[in-house]
Amino acid sequence: MVSRDAWVLEALCSMLRRRNLLTTILIALPWALLLTLWHQYPTTHYLSLLRKETDENVTSKALLNGTSALREGSLPSCIRQQQSTGATPRVIQSYVYSRPPPWSDTLPTIFVITPTYTRPVQKAELTRLANTFLHVQNLHWVVVEDSPRRTNLVSNLLEKAGLNFTHLNVETPKSLKLGLSWIPSHTPRGTLQRNLGLHWLRDSFSNTAPPEGVVYFADDDNTYSLELFEEMRYTRRVSVWPVAFVGGLRYESPKVSPAGKVVGWKTVFDPNRPFAIDMAGFAISIKLILEKPQASFKLEGVKGGYQETSLLKDLVTMDGLEPKAANCTKVLVWHTRTERPTLVNEGKRGFTDPRVEV
Ligand code: UGA
Ligand code: MN
Repeated sequence: MVSRDAWVLEALCSMLRRRNLLTTILIALPWALLLTLWHQYPTTHYLSLLRKETDENVTSKALLNGTSALREGSLPSCIRQQQSTGATPRVIQSYVYSRPPPWSDTLPTIFVITPTYTRPVQKAELTRLANTFLHVQNLHWVVVEDSPRRTNLVSNLLEKAGLNFTHLNVETPKSLKLGLSWIPSHTPRGTLQRNLGLHWLRDSFSNTAPPEGVVYFADDDNTYSLELFEEMRYTRRVSVWPVAFVGGLRYESPKVSPAGKVVGWKTVFDPNRPFAIDMAGFAISIKLILEKPQASFKLEGVKGGYQETSLLKDLVTMDGLEPKAANCTKVLVWHTRTERPTLVNEGKRGFTDPRVEV
């Protein structure tokens, strides 16, 4: 009897154990299936990839820029926010606009002289230039308008730009512009304006000690890399480098010997000019400009392409030129031109609003 009861009890227990096992399996199986599916689902895969990729971009950016933790500290806060949020997109509500670094007492100054004149694209050109210059330390922008008076458009732009600047004006006489006088028909553009810029410099430092630094003539329509300014900053007398899209070539350049001396010019247009170089291709030390007060751009009897020579011949010889931009193997400035917009007669159609400045 006892043995029979024991057998029944044992059978019951074993059934219960099997039931428990079955219940456990029934509960665990769907979860196991779900987890397996989740790991194989493409979105999960994509998200983990994205996370990895974002991190990699940040690292390579820092490597490419040669930046270190030092530079990272000066990143605008919007960028820092993006980095810290990883893959989660986030709408940035406030941007921090960083001004150029404070003026340094140890860095040489770059005086940039820019002639400019009124036309539909003028504000666009000057805005683009100002945006470039805002990245350059110790830069003083000398803007010389080719106009009978300083215009409100340029004054306002300069006031708002956040740059160190001097605003001047001198009008090129109409007779010169149209080539109607006895002076050669091609009148160089911006000549009187650049000379006024030089005059202002010499005047400003006639009684006070000049800073270390350079003078650079930057037309308002060219494209300038930031690297260019660091190349020219430590010019001893006159430094030179290639300029792209000029004289019918992809780039013109000084010819540099293996010893690092300028020995000629890689140009198609008149390579025998004493200085066959575009205005954008050289910078002069302030010291030299002050040492040679008579040196200026000539208006009279200057053939096309000889404007640069007309100034440089009074300052330096080819032998004294300092090649920059990795011995003139890098293009850091482009002689670009902005297309003249085709404008229909808006006035007649009632589109022009005098309150809108373009
Ligand atoms: C080329 C050179 O790159 C210039 O440095 C040189 O002054 C010019 O030729 C020249 O032939 O004299 P390019 O692109 O043909 O330049 O000339 P622009 O860009 O039209 O003018 C050069 C500078 O002078 C610009 O900054 C422009 O705003 C200014 N400019 C032009 C004036 O101030 N007044 C004008 O009537 C025309
Ligand atoms: Mn131009």
